[in-house]
Amino acid sequence: MKHVLTLGVALCCTLALLCHADEPHITVTIDTKKPGPIIHRNIYGQFMEHLGRGIYEGIWVGEKSRIPNKNGYRKDVLKALKELQVPLLRWPGGCFADEYHWQDGIGPRNQRKKTVNTTWGGVIDDNAFGTHEFLELAEMLEAEVYINGNLGTGTPREMAAWLEYMTSDSDSSLAMLRRANGRDKPWKIHYFAIGNESWGCGGNMTPQYYSDLYKHYATFLKTPSDNRPILIASGGTEAETIWTETLVKNIKPSWSLRMDAISHHYYTLPTGNWEKHGAALNFSEHEWFSTLWQSLRIEKFIEDNIAVLDEHDPDKTIGLYIDEWGTWYDTMEGDNPGFLFQQNTLRDAVVAAVNLNVFHKYAERIHMSNIAQMVNVLQAMILTDKEKMLLTPTYHTFKMYIPFQDAKTLAYNITGSPDYTSNDKRIPGLSASAAESKDGKIWLSLVNPFPSKPLKLKVKANEPIKTAQGSILTAKHMDTHNTFDKPENIQPEAFSAKADKGELVLTLPAKSIVVVELK
Ligand code: AHR
Repeated sequence: MKHVLTLGVALCCTLALLCHADEPHITVTIDTKKPGPIIHRNIYGQFMEHLGRGIYEGIWVGEKSRIPNKNGYRKDVLKALKELQVPLLRWPGGCFADEYHWQDGIGPRNQRKKTVNTTWGGVIDDNAFGTHEFLELAEMLEAEVYINGNLGTGTPREMAAWLEYMTSDSDSSLAMLRRANGRDKPWKIHYFAIGNESWGCGGNMTPQYYSDLYKHYATFLKTPSDNRPILIASGGTEAETIWTETLVKNIKPSWSLRMDAISHHYYTLPTGNWEKHGAALNFSEHEWFSTLWQSLRIEKFIEDNIAVLDEHDPDKTIGLYIDEWGTWYDTMEGDNPGFLFQQNTLRDAVVAAVNLNVFHKYAERIHMSNIAQMVNVLQAMILTDKEKMLLTPTYHTFKMYIPFQDAKTLAYNITGSPDYTSNDKRIPGLSASAAESKDGKIWLSLVNPFPSKPLKLKVKANEPIKTAQGSILTAKHMDTHNTFDKPENIQPEAFSAKADKGELVLTLPAKSIVVVELK
């Protein structure tokens, strides 16, 4: 009798296992009834610096170039950027900003000063790309602008004059000079930063010294009242909170002083070691994992800096801008190390997606982020080689995420998801974000970081779901990438899933990013 019972129990268990083996254990439940903060479209901002081939060749080739161009801007890159719906451009640096003197880059191009780019490669900059060229590019892309002022080697007078040149509608000499240089109406300047990385290349300052200088410079930045840029103070990096803390304590807003946001920078190095970053291609699974682990440390840095802001700025008037982020690999042999050119693989696409999901989560304070950098530098959207151009996997992630720009975040809950572990480190085995776009559609992004494990999951919402439609980015190898000979090696494909009794059941292939509209 005992044997019969045991056999019976064993049979039942086996049947149960067989019946349920295919059922997903991971469940994502979305609450569509409680929309949260708006995901500011400027989280999708881009950074462009006078660095390597980021601007010269990458965007600007000049009217006489044999590379097809519109008024000097290369046509293929313009088209790709328009399709990406870039909401914001940050320029002219970076470290370069603290050595940039704006008057070198205005007036007839053949008469502009030739300067040495001492930060990046020691090359000559003929200043063909200056204020007018940048602001015209932004107008063509219908993007907002973020100008980074020179605190390190400039003066309050030089900085104030630049803003006056761009924004004054008066008959001042600077406004007349702008007109003489071909621009009648002032430009709208949305954001203006006072210095960059002032703890390092921007002057090796202490937070206290910088915050005093910030007050000095900011006091004299005067613009017409309807054209006041959001003023950004240069903040810290990585785990630091001392910059945020010193700035928020030392700079008290008054009628003559504003500080609307603090910047924070964090770069992802696979090794976490600035001496040897790790390779862009041909990396091991160990380095795939460590890259994601390093990248996701950003969440704690954001939380800690937000906690400082919440304590001193409970009304949440000050934004935290991650205005430089992305992967930074070792330069490839033969490349100029000062040019920071690197290949971009499926791993970069996944890094971008999980970071964007984190920024969405903290959208209440993070109103801007700028991936470094837009073309040919670090984790770029676009790579060029003379007349050739390719779109990187990171470009594809950004394009797939367009519906999240200005969407309302939606709360969601994940249960049953395994952690992805390596040695003593772990990251979540599923990254997600849910939002309601301006046209009332519900969007879900899902990222499977496991390089060889598909994930089966169920998606539920308050209302029954019928289908999901969107796109997927995945590939066979961790370092699959596009080349100038095979520019479409990796690109998004259509993805759809059907629901069963109002719940979506889907499989996320290993190392994939899926963005779908739930219907
Ligand atoms: O993006 C490259 C450089 O990284 C920037 O110029 C600087 O701000 C940062 O250190």
